[in-house]
Amino acid sequence: MSKSFYITTPIYYVNGVPHIGTATTTILCDAFARWHRLRGEPTFFLTGTDEHAQKVADAALKAGKTPQQFVDDISQRFVECWRFLDISNDDFIRTSEPRHKVVVEEVFRRLQSRGDIYTGQYEGWYSVADETFYRNSDVEDGRAKETGATVERVTEQNYYFRLSAYADPLLAHIEAHPDFLLPDTRRNEAVAFIKAGLRDIPISRRNTGWGIPAPGDSSQTVYVWFDACINYLTATGWPDSPLWDTLWPADIHLVGKEIYTRFHATLWPAMLMALGLPLPGHVLGHGWWLAGGEKGAKSKGNIPTPQEAVTELQARSGAAEAACVDALRCYLLRDIKWAADAEWSLDTLIETYYNAELANNLGNLLNRTLKMLWQYRGGIVPNGAAQRTASGSAAQAARESAAEVAQAMDALDPGSALGAALRLADRGNKQIDTDAPWKANKAGESERVDDALYAALETLRVASVLLTPFLPHTARAIREQLGVTETAAWADTQTWGLLPGGTQTQPAQPIFPRIETTTARQEKTIPVTEPASAPPTPPTNLITIDDFAKIELKVAEILTAERIEGATKLLKLTVNCGEDAPRQILAGIAENHEPSALVGKKIVVVANLQPRKMRGLESQGMLLAATDSDGHAILLHPESDVAPGAKVR
Ligand code: MSP
Repeated sequence: MSKSFYITTPIYYVNGVPHIGTATTTILCDAFARWHRLRGEPTFFLTGTDEHAQKVADAALKAGKTPQQFVDDISQRFVECWRFLDISNDDFIRTSEPRHKVVVEEVFRRLQSRGDIYTGQYEGWYSVADETFYRNSDVEDGRAKETGATVERVTEQNYYFRLSAYADPLLAHIEAHPDFLLPDTRRNEAVAFIKAGLRDIPISRRNTGWGIPAPGDSSQTVYVWFDACINYLTATGWPDSPLWDTLWPADIHLVGKEIYTRFHATLWPAMLMALGLPLPGHVLGHGWWLAGGEKGAKSKGNIPTPQEAVTELQARSGAAEAACVDALRCYLLRDIKWAADAEWSLDTLIETYYNAELANNLGNLLNRTLKMLWQYRGGIVPNGAAQRTASGSAAQAARESAAEVAQAMDALDPGSALGAALRLADRGNKQIDTDAPWKANKAGESERVDDALYAALETLRVASVLLTPFLPHTARAIREQLGVTETAAWADTQTWGLLPGGTQTQPAQPIFPRIETTTARQEKTIPVTEPASAPPTPPTNLITIDDFAKIELKVAEILTAERIEGATKLLKLTVNCGEDAPRQILAGIAENHEPSALVGKKIVVVANLQPRKMRGLESQGMLLAATDSDGHAILLHPESDVAPGAKVR
């Protein structure tokens, strides 16, 4: 069997739920994995949870649970979150699984038998927050200089790993393989760290009842980092499974910068050298999401969970959940940096990515093309245009974009690859502006209409393949609307004209309804949609009186109103809709409404909306409001007094 492309995320500590930071590493790996699958390569993508940390046991104690109950619960939250984000991992490893314990024991025994593990007395610093042993020179005023985490003095009888023996072999490997440690800043940091002198490090801790007992010595448990790194090997079935040979060495270990130098560029490769195993192809490190200049962390509450970000986007846009997940993926992939940090911003997600890139650029190309195709050709892909457009500029743009995406992925840069894929949509929009099929239609030039529409459709088909690794839902939705039934494959980007004439497309269904923001309103003067000379779009948004009758509108009286902790826009209201019990409604009106001033006011609500959850609270309806020129919600009140529950038509 041929070697698979094998990529790993760090395994995440289960002392907290997934957030934007952990999601970013996972989405980056997902993009790589999907890219290699798109290219037809066997691929193995591993993620999982790191469960034996002392901080995990501490968090369990705080939650009043046993460590096992606690890790079962949070590990499941990771599984669910990755499913929610459309992550395509092939395996999910948990370090509390029996399959992992046996591999850790095997590694321990092998290193012990070759003299790389020995017993010794440790007296020094340990940080539970970092799960790291620090030397005196790493510590200042009771904190680790590197991270600011508090440290405690520990005196323990431990097992040690002979790390110092691997400093020279590590430096030699790094020098011989310039792309082993990436980006350059991280490599330089790692080289400086190793050159400063590697000391042997403890790889066990006193057994406090949580962790993998050291083989043959149950007074000790294996140090969490020694245990955790081995997960990359466990999942391959090492040492006996035939799968192992097809997977190892891993091609990419992708990790955040805080766990790069000490662990993934030093300890883990040294452990592999001690085992006589080949080192991974690349250790790729990325920067952090910051919030207000500080590292984003769930414990600080300064960055959202992926679900929170998506819920907010959905509430603002009305788009499907999967589309909002893709918008989040788009932002995280495009804006995370390798060598630097990036500031998390919901506004950037909404304005730069959701609105500008996805609604106005990609979505606009899809919607306008399909609308015109339906208007001029009944939604059927024209015959004969494939050959005529094959040597034109649209075909050339598609070829160039595919090459740019491949080049960026070869350079291990999914963010730039996604940028190149989205630029193809931009080129498609410009092309259709130039081709102006609406003018050709007016002039009765049928062939020109066919060619312009076909060029745009093919551009979208190629774009859908290019987007597959990054925005999988969007790619599928575009293909569905185009009437393409095959699964996306890279080879399909290399031939122009694969969309057969006669294909029945679907009427345009906007994937990313535009979000109204102050900036978005100002941008409306920019001709991002069809130019003024385009034919009037047939009104596709008309509803019948029966449709309208389905909406139950009622007068309601506001009984209570309060702010929601951590939410700047949402208020929690209870309202009397003339029913037996009041309802709870969450409304995005906090920015320009003082809760106390709302009590007693009569408003209009949609009473038969399916309840939905926002920030963990259920909203049992929606209130009606106009939007003023500053983007503020202006509540609608009945003209004169009317009882709660009165129907509005
Ligand atoms: N359990 C260890 C890893 C062991 S791997 C053998 C660990 N876990 S963690 O839960 O703390 O996750 C760390 C990873 O989360 C980082 O490597 C990084 O990928 C990601 N991030 C956590 N916070 C982050 C940001 N604020 N920004 C970007 N990513 C960050 O360390």
